[in-house]
Amino acid sequence: MTKQKTAAIVLAAGLGTRMKSARPKVLHRLAGRPMVLHLMDTLARFAPERTVVVVGQGMEAVAEAVAPHPCAIQEPRLGTAHAVLAARAAMEGFAGDVLILYGDTPLIKPETLEAMLAARHLDPQPAVVVLGFRPPDPTDYGRLIVSADGALQAIVEAKEATAAERAIGLCNSGVMAIDGARLFGWLDRIGNANAKGEYYLTDIVALARADGAACAFVEAPPEELLGINSRADLAAAEAVVQERLRARAMAEGATLIDPASVFFSADTRLGRDVTVGPNVVFGPGVAVGDGVEIHAFSHIEGATIAAGARVGPFARLRPGARIAEDAHIGNFVEIKNASVEAGAKVNHLTYIGDARIGAKANIGAGTITCNYDGFFKDHTDIGAGAFIGSNTALVAPVKVGDGATVGAGSVITRDVPADALAVTRAELTTIEGWARRFRARRAAEKQARQKSKKG
Ligand code: UD1
Ligand code: CA
Repeated sequence: MTKQKTAAIVLAAGLGTRMKSARPKVLHRLAGRPMVLHLMDTLARFAPERTVVVVGQGMEAVAEAVAPHPCAIQEPRLGTAHAVLAARAAMEGFAGDVLILYGDTPLIKPETLEAMLAARHLDPQPAVVVLGFRPPDPTDYGRLIVSADGALQAIVEAKEATAAERAIGLCNSGVMAIDGARLFGWLDRIGNANAKGEYYLTDIVALARADGAACAFVEAPPEELLGINSRADLAAAEAVVQERLRARAMAEGATLIDPASVFFSADTRLGRDVTVGPNVVFGPGVAVGDGVEIHAFSHIEGATIAAGARVGPFARLRPGARIAEDAHIGNFVEIKNASVEAGAKVNHLTYIGDARIGAKANIGAGTITCNYDGFFKDHTDIGAGAFIGSNTALVAPVKVGDGATVGAGSVITRDVPADALAVTRAELTTIEGWARRFRARRAAEKQARQKSKKG
């Protein structure tokens, strides 16, 4: 990474009206994380000395999300140059490289920023490096005017462009790396006598050139520069992020049987030799240990799964689920705020909430921890090696001691001592021949009724 000091200004004052949302655009999520924070994560790799986010009035939620980085308020919105000027006080005295980015264009890769910063330090040193790209439809973008020797001459906005300029496919992404010592001096000289009556940041190139400073450009693939303006753009960006997360998971040693059907969160952590079946969704806050198998159609969020554990198919792990080494969580099992200790098995049709399941305990099919009485949530504690029979209701707060057995179909309302049997079923009664006599009687009755209907 570059040695030169770096600062970043992230423009995010746009209203995002096309999202039709009460939420500021840059807080819409990709892989469970606000889009602007994806950008901040990328920037963090450069350890910028300062990062300032330019927001509009009333966008406190953005300020909260990007904290501890400061925000600068741009009010009113008079264009991209005017937006960068809003960050002036926050950049006071900084003379290194200033990166300018858009909060709604979060897919840019660190390698691309690295290439821009490297270009800033070529000899002769360009004062402005612009990130160019070739979008499939360049209509609305600013065009890069490049001389025969490859130097960047100017950026012309689509609305100001001549027909010949509009034929240029190389467009301005908006991302720039600029000499911090000269940035604000040039911004002060940008006017708004143009088609939109806005202060265009893009004018900085012609100004710098007129001052004898060189300008350059670097090109990046359009996928990295997808700007998010609508829900459809958001979905397209989500697809890109998911693709990257899948590729990363596989590169780091996970097997994804059907990668396209697995959905990750930005913070999902997988160990080595993890196998993930088709149609698995990872919500935020999941960490998975080595050798874990996660079978098809499982939904996992806020959970830790230790080495060697097996989850699913059709399992739901909710926040606070802690699955220890070699534990098994089977089909149609929901675990919430509970630890399932090493080697324990919860294999079928069960709800475990606000509980501890001791090591090697076996929880039978259809077991329910009744953790909520409509007012309070209470804890259930199952000791190591306990055996809970099928279709048991454990009415919390309640404890089942180590090695205890609970008979199938029981409703457990009081603590069960270690190694005891607890069973709450009524005595079994059998009456010899009852079913045969019952059938004979009912069949005769049916025949009699049919006869009287006909007659
Ligand atoms: C801008 C560029 C254009 C480039 C395009 C890439 C200018 C004049 N034009 O055009 O060359 O091809 O981006 O997408 O720079 N913003 C503010 N405050 C403002 C105006 C904008 O914070 O007053 C922010 C927006 O939130 C957005 C970014 O700046 O993140 C770009 O603004 P936008 O209005 O989309 O710029 P374009 O006109 O599309
Ligand atoms: Ca735009």
